[in-house]
Amino acid sequence: MSLEVIILAAGQGTRMRSSLPKVLHALAGKSMAGHVIDTVRSLNSANIYLVVGHGADKVRNTLAAKDITFVEQLEQLGTGHAVTQALPKLNKNSQVLILYGDVPLIKAATLEKLLVHATKTSLGLLTVNLDNPSGYGRIIRDEQQKVAAIVEQKDANAQQLEVNEVNTGILAVTSQQLNRWLPQLSNNNAQGEYYLTDIIAMAYQEGTQIETVQPASSAEVEGVNNRLQLAALERVYQLEQANALMAAGVGLADPARIDVRGELSTARDIFIDVGCVFEGQVELAEGVEIGPYCVLKNARLGPGVKLAAFSHLDGVELDGDNQVGPFARLRPGTHLETGAKIGNFVETKKAQVRSGAKINHLSYIGDAEVGANANIGAGTITCNYDGVNKHLTKIGADAFIGSNSCLVAPVEIGVGAIIGAGSTIRKNVKDQALAVTRGELSEIPNWPKPAKK
Ligand code: UD1
Ligand code: CA
Repeated sequence: MSLEVIILAAGQGTRMRSSLPKVLHALAGKSMAGHVIDTVRSLNSANIYLVVGHGADKVRNTLAAKDITFVEQLEQLGTGHAVTQALPKLNKNSQVLILYGDVPLIKAATLEKLLVHATKTSLGLLTVNLDNPSGYGRIIRDEQQKVAAIVEQKDANAQQLEVNEVNTGILAVTSQQLNRWLPQLSNNNAQGEYYLTDIIAMAYQEGTQIETVQPASSAEVEGVNNRLQLAALERVYQLEQANALMAAGVGLADPARIDVRGELSTARDIFIDVGCVFEGQVELAEGVEIGPYCVLKNARLGPGVKLAAFSHLDGVELDGDNQVGPFARLRPGTHLETGAKIGNFVETKKAQVRSGAKINHLSYIGDAEVGANANIGAGTITCNYDGVNKHLTKIGADAFIGSNSCLVAPVEIGVGAIIGAGSTIRKNVKDQALAVTRGELSEIPNWPKPAKK
């Protein structure tokens, strides 16, 4: 049997108090529904149906992909009604997994265990035992401990309310079963809704086996209704990632103070201090050390790179043995060759910094090539923008740029050339030459100081 997945995501999410549909709120930099979709993709399902309603256009625009079919539920008449909207699209004979766009941490391993039970004669129901089951549908078992029904909180009697085993909402069935049962649902209940959960009693009555599976951790089945719950799941997710990093040989100053919002690939003997954020694709090689409060987005750091506190890197490649920061900002297109050094309050953009070059203090180096072992003095600015176009600055190997110099691009500084401090360079400078544009010092002796009136 092929596998099809229905993800319910039509609810409003009023308690988020947001104009963004609930399922689009981000957890670790990716929408909640995006997490569910990615987990489902790892199961190789044939079709993914996303049932949308509130904010349908936004959800569609954000999550559109080749492998996703959107099904609109115009009125939210209950979970059973929501699944019914996808019914005509299902294959005749498939396994169907029902998931929720606001239950983002469900794991593929749990779903695989559940799917084993979606057969002609059985179905799989994911349940969990909670100390406080309030609000959830209760799992009702018969004298032989077989699941006989699910009763919603609002429809439950005092005895049923005592039950701690609750419905997570997640279940695995077949398309044939759904075709038999969904048309029989009624909304004759406390909430006037078509409850998906009513199919459990139908299954029981016709003798279909209801097999329950429990998740490894209750966070897997926790739904998000407000920002507090979203933040709580964010911490669960981040701690899981921190634990995986440490298991892989990464040292963390505090596993509770790291945020990975994308993919972080690592090697041995890396150390990451507190408060760092990783976004997009970040690759760290052996021996990398990252100081406190650094932000790295789409970055590759080669072996032995040391990043000091409060550095911000975006779209950069550091080949290895580079020292960067504190307070460095490396913007997209920055490439540091082995051993190149960037100090405090330095901004770079589209900059090729060759091996051993140093830019140690307070500089802007943009649209530039800095030759091997060149030394860029404090306060050097590449004037790359003429108000309309951007131009290139090329600095030769071993060049020495004196402090507080402006290099007005397009301009080339020759190999081994020296620029005197405070110069504004508007023409190319030859190899090994000294160029200086500052005025001569004039000294007036015995200059009278102004006297206080
Ligand atoms: C549901 C279950 C309950 C279970 C609980 C777990 C039913 C009747 N009850 O209750 O047994 O313990 O989940 O959290 O299924 N949705 C739609 N369209 C609708 C209604 C809901 O897409 O018409 C979506 C919502 O966006 C939400 C999910 O389905 O993501 C669950 O709906 P909700 O109304 O929150 O169900 P609960 O009352 O919590
Ligand atoms: Ca709910």
